[in-house]
Amino acid sequence: MRDLPNTYTILALETSCDETAAAVVRGGRTVLSNVVASQMDMHSRYGGIVPEVASRQHILSLVPVVQAALSALPGGWSAVDAVAATHGPGLSGALLTGLNAAKALAWQRGLPFIGVNHLEAHIYASWLDAHAEPPAFPLIALVVSGGHTLLALLRDHGDYTILGQTRDDAVGEAFDKVARILGLGYPGGPAIQRVAEGAQVGGLVLPRAWLRESFDFSFSGLKTAVLHKVQEHQEREARLPAKPAGKHKGRVVPPATPPEPPKAAPVPLDPRWVAQMAHAFQESVVDVLSTKTVEAVRQHGANAIILAGGVAANTRLRAELNRRAEVPLYVPPIDLCTDNAAMVAAAAFYRFAAGKQSGWELDVTPNLRLGM
Ligand code: KG4
Ligand code: ZN
Repeated sequence: MRDLPNTYTILALETSCDETAAAVVRGGRTVLSNVVASQMDMHSRYGGIVPEVASRQHILSLVPVVQAALSALPGGWSAVDAVAATHGPGLSGALLTGLNAAKALAWQRGLPFIGVNHLEAHIYASWLDAHAEPPAFPLIALVVSGGHTLLALLRDHGDYTILGQTRDDAVGEAFDKVARILGLGYPGGPAIQRVAEGAQVGGLVLPRAWLRESFDFSFSGLKTAVLHKVQEHQEREARLPAKPAGKHKGRVVPPATPPEPPKAAPVPLDPRWVAQMAHAFQESVVDVLSTKTVEAVRQHGANAIILAGGVAANTRLRAELNRRAEVPLYVPPIDLCTDNAAMVAAAAFYRFAAGKQSGWELDVTPNLRLGM
């Protein structure tokens, strides 16, 4: 173990997916700057992330983002003690941009370089509050993002046991796919949450994949259940007699295009029905995630729960875990739940303190697992 002072300052980069991010964190817990350039608008027109577009955009954004992060640091480069970057998991081309930029910066300045696991970084977002007590080990981490869903037991810094993970879709991926099925756009998580909040809750209940005796998860069946309900709904609506079209303030407006046979016409989904479906989907996901997390805490005698990853931004999941948890629940503020570099700097601090430093040969590992 290295005894790092709480003034030890790390500049970190994060480019594993569609955010170009740089941050400066002191002592592993105090965020001095946290800059994120999102590519969301660029990808939303394609309904998802296009890897080549992401890599190119990272290259364009990296220099201004790093400059902005450093401009908030009194002393600039002279106050930086180490440089860190995410090296996996993620999109290989995207990871390459940030990893190579960080290695070059560290090498040029003669500073230590620390490669960080993106999943570990999400967990360490819960250390980013120097005024709060840090989470107490052993603890249970629920990591829920666009690419991952897993429950892990942490006995100490860097000591991970994966208790369960998804067997098919990641939970964020399920949110994104279901939002697309419901015509709610990308990214799906915030869109589903928003419309679910306004739902008039009826008797609509979707199945839960419990996978009993296991901490694993499965969300693809739930996604398919939504798809079938949408298809049934559209068929039902298409069979109904057409409403008198074009009525507008007492004036009859002829339809712009000649009416098509009912079966072929895509029936727009009723927004109230969509809201109920989004609500039922979110309830199913939240129920399974929180039930398994609380059970893991009980079985392992954990002292705390950490909720991490982009889906941790979900207010319904936060509220339900808070209601059910019998130990302190750590949930970072929203901007530290979604991808950012402050969490990478926090994870790097504890890695480096444990004597882990990376060599210049460190490469990207798109499938990097937690605990490696
Ligand atoms: O961790 P993250 O920013 O990127 C990955 O590492 O994947 O997670 C992104 C995922 C997306 O699937 C997005 O739809 C989901 O997090 N997400 C949410 C919410 N905000 C973001 N899911 C549910 N509710 C939200 N409020
Ligand atoms: Zn992430």
